[in-house]
Amino acid sequence: MSELIWTPTADDEQVAEALTEEAAGLLGGPVQGVWAAPGRVNLIGEHTDYNGGWCLPFALSHRTYVAVRRRDDGRLRIASRQASGQAWEGSVAEVGPATPGGWASYVAGVASVLAERVGAQALGADVLVDGHVPLGAGLSSSAALSCSVALALHDLVPELSGLDRADLASTCVRAENEVAGAATGGMDQSVSLRAVDGHALLIDCRDFSLTPVAWTLPDHDVLVIDTRAHHSLADGQYASRRAACERACSVLGVASLREVDGVDLEEVLGRLADDPEVARRVRHVLTENARVLDLVAALAEREAAEVGRLMGASHDSLRDDYEVSCPELDLAVESAVAGGAVGARMTGGGFGGSAIALVPRGQEEGVAGSVATAFADRGWEAPHFLTATPSAPACRVR
Ligand code: GLA
Repeated sequence: MSELIWTPTADDEQVAEALTEEAAGLLGGPVQGVWAAPGRVNLIGEHTDYNGGWCLPFALSHRTYVAVRRRDDGRLRIASRQASGQAWEGSVAEVGPATPGGWASYVAGVASVLAERVGAQALGADVLVDGHVPLGAGLSSSAALSCSVALALHDLVPELSGLDRADLASTCVRAENEVAGAATGGMDQSVSLRAVDGHALLIDCRDFSLTPVAWTLPDHDVLVIDTRAHHSLADGQYASRRAACERACSVLGVASLREVDGVDLEEVLGRLADDPEVARRVRHVLTENARVLDLVAALAEREAAEVGRLMGASHDSLRDDYEVSCPELDLAVESAVAGGAVGARMTGGGFGGSAIALVPRGQEEGVAGSVATAFADRGWEAPHFLTATPSAPACRVR
């Protein structure tokens, strides 16, 4: 069996201390504070956010940290401990779709969107990033970055004090869409900024209103399986799924698929019969919305088996109807269940990244071992594992 790699949570105080010290050297003076924002897993409700539907993510204890000092000259200096030597320096006013490019766009993009409210001059900053959300694992490390920066700028720029966390989340969505060029529907940013510790967050993506849902299965853990697979098609496929949903809306004469939620499914699908692929996409979205609400009910009843069943049904629907899974995610799910998980599914956008498994406490090693063995048997790169606990939202840590 390949060696299992567990990704631990960083200690806030230690990270803040080290980051403050390094920032002072790198940026040539003391920073004003350190902020952190978490990555996420989504328990259920995938590819529903941009359809005005329901989803149920929770914040990870793994977070991205930023040490920040405000500047009064409208300039940005951005560096990361994970990208040593690669820094970006420029003005807020020049930030746009191709500038700065790469990961720095998630920082600069937030400053640039916020600058629409208070002017570019007010949003200058020196920023040193330290990411502890596994990168490229489909755990929203990018939202963790944009959200930590948004909260830092909000706290440091008095003219932004009127913005609440929902405003900051939509700022981050715009920064990711418009500056970083990353398609995202709002789930990740909402949970990173607005999570409730110990709870999952039921998000109604019609208006991004939230209901905290207590985690009622203390004798079960959520095991995250980072498959280490990244299929480069992901971005184009995400866009094509969104486009299919928009086509369905125009055929159905609605602004969002949420408007046909609750209408007889067969009737809706019948109206889409001319395009079986679009009909399958819609079947996923509408059945997934129902599974989210069913899973919330199952959690309230502490029915672990039903939670697991719904996770499995969600995975099947994403694999067969929405077609966003991949062999690595399918194998992770199958081998986790074979190894003793109550249920498992892919989480996030798909085409690689992570799966999650609901595992009776104490059986994590066995489940992880089953997955690791299955991957090794195929000659695939060893997956990484972490246990996910519903954690706190973005905050200032010093
Ligand atoms: C990505 C996006 C989210 C959401 C998921 C799929 O994580 O950033 O907005 O659409 O995919 O549920």
